[in-house]
Amino acid sequence: MGSDTVLKLLAAIFMGALFSVGRRWRKSSTILLHFSEKPASLRIRNTSDGSVSTESLENLVEIRCPSLRSPFNPVWWLFSGHLQTIFCVVGDFSKSDQLQYNRTLLRLEEGGTIGLDFAPADHSKVPPDAPIIVILHGLTGGSYESYVRSIVVPATKPVEEGGLGYRAVVVNYRGCAGVPVTSPQLYSAGYTGDIRQALIYISQRYPRAPLLGLGFSLGANVLTRYLAEEGEKSRLVSGCALACPWDLAKNNDRLRYSFTGRFYSKAMATNLINLVRRNLDGLNKFPDAMIANYIPIALNLKGALLDDFDNAFTRIAGGSAPDFPFATAHDYYRWGSSHNIVDKIRVPFLAINAADDPVVQAVPMDGAGNGMVVMALTASGSGASVDRWIKAPVLEWMSLMGEAVVHPSSPSYANISVQDGFHREEGRDGGCKEIEGGGIIQANSWEGVNLQGL
Ligand SMILES: *[C@@H]1O[C@H](CO)[C@@H](O)[C@H](O)[C@H]1NC(C)=O
Ligand SMILES: *[C@@H]1O[C@H](CO)[C@@H](O)[C@H](O)[C@H]1NC(C)=O
Ligand SMILES: *[C@@H]1O[C@H](CO)[C@@H](O)[C@H](O)[C@H]1NC(C)=O
Repeated sequence: MGSDTVLKLLAAIFMGALFSVGRRWRKSSTILLHFSEKPASLRIRNTSDGSVSTESLENLVEIRCPSLRSPFNPVWWLFSGHLQTIFCVVGDFSKSDQLQYNRTLLRLEEGGTIGLDFAPADHSKVPPDAPIIVILHGLTGGSYESYVRSIVVPATKPVEEGGLGYRAVVVNYRGCAGVPVTSPQLYSAGYTGDIRQALIYISQRYPRAPLLGLGFSLGANVLTRYLAEEGEKSRLVSGCALACPWDLAKNNDRLRYSFTGRFYSKAMATNLINLVRRNLDGLNKFPDAMIANYIPIALNLKGALLDDFDNAFTRIAGGSAPDFPFATAHDYYRWGSSHNIVDKIRVPFLAINAADDPVVQAVPMDGAGNGMVVMALTASGSGASVDRWIKAPVLEWMSLMGEAVVHPSSPSYANISVQDGFHREEGRDGGCKEIEGGGIIQANSWEGVNLQGL
């Protein structure tokens, strides 16, 4: 461990102490649930007799997601691998969450690569029409993160063993979890091109399976933006956004000017700089691309906060033209936020945030009056022994959306065609194709990288 690491460990322990003091002040735990005055009516299938009835989203959530009202851990929202390990929030690297994935590498038309990690690894274990949970991880994570595994394991376990019997697929972003960087581009909180391509591929591979979106933190922002951009054309039949950052510009002020904010901001920037460092071989293959000038700037940042990194790198490399590059990180934040487009979502959507999340400042609790949207805010943690609080409400929501709700039978998204191996949506740019290099991987084989980020 370097001295830097020791300092960060000490800081983390100090922060932990702050949290436990805070915990004693707060005696009761509260969750605020907000529904639109006109919650959407959804069609529900009775699994015992097959009959279909109509029920409001509000009643469905109240009755079928009871764990939303259960006591929660004060820092359930902490979806940053190494910080979680220290806080032991979800950090349980026990045997119970060991799993294998079957990775499919997708080459995107512009040259980039993303990695889809499917579970169970043996795809014959689950019927082809079983619901699929499509997972978007946090800032610098991947399918190996404990918070991801804590959902994937119970969701993909057979029903006889107490699981949901679903399929799950984690979309690992460019450069994350061992996915190689093969074009002069990474990813960002605002760029939805890669998830769009991933969903085209997944829905082509499993055409009869309902796809249920689940995003953590940065991934929650990407998910929210995708759903809002696609509206009725969404390939996901539902969305669940955990600790979505919403207003990136507003968060940044807090990250820069508060003590706790700066602590997290530095940790996130360090992770991102390490991500660039780990992927230098790939990134350096494009000396003529604009990002070539910015790699050394990013690597030479000292004591950087998140927006220092975003100014140095994300505004250039976080997505593709015409939106990228941006003149400043602030321009990128304004473009990439999701708080102002919640009204455009057209599928059932549950967002859970924490009032004590030092990163997320402004939660659009009114859900823009959108009847499809349920907003939940945990107001103060109970400190009860509920390490993986988030797991139960998420699984209840997935079960509701995967089995009970009858989704529209004639979706209005474009048809897919395959040319030269590339899956393309008719009338749209971009495409993706499967390439060599996938196969079975151990979900925890990247733990080392995870801790390196510290
Ligand atoms: C489902 O159908 C069964 C058999 O008709 C009935 O007994 C049960 O009450 C129904 N369940 C709900 C939730 O309506
Ligand atoms: C892994 O996925 C590939 C398709 O990408 C498939 O051909 C292979 O059979 C899968 N492996 C297992 C063990 O199911
Ligand atoms: C998709 O293809 C089918 C059959 O070829 C066609 O009837 C339908 O209109 C197409 N949908 C769209 C959105 O283009």
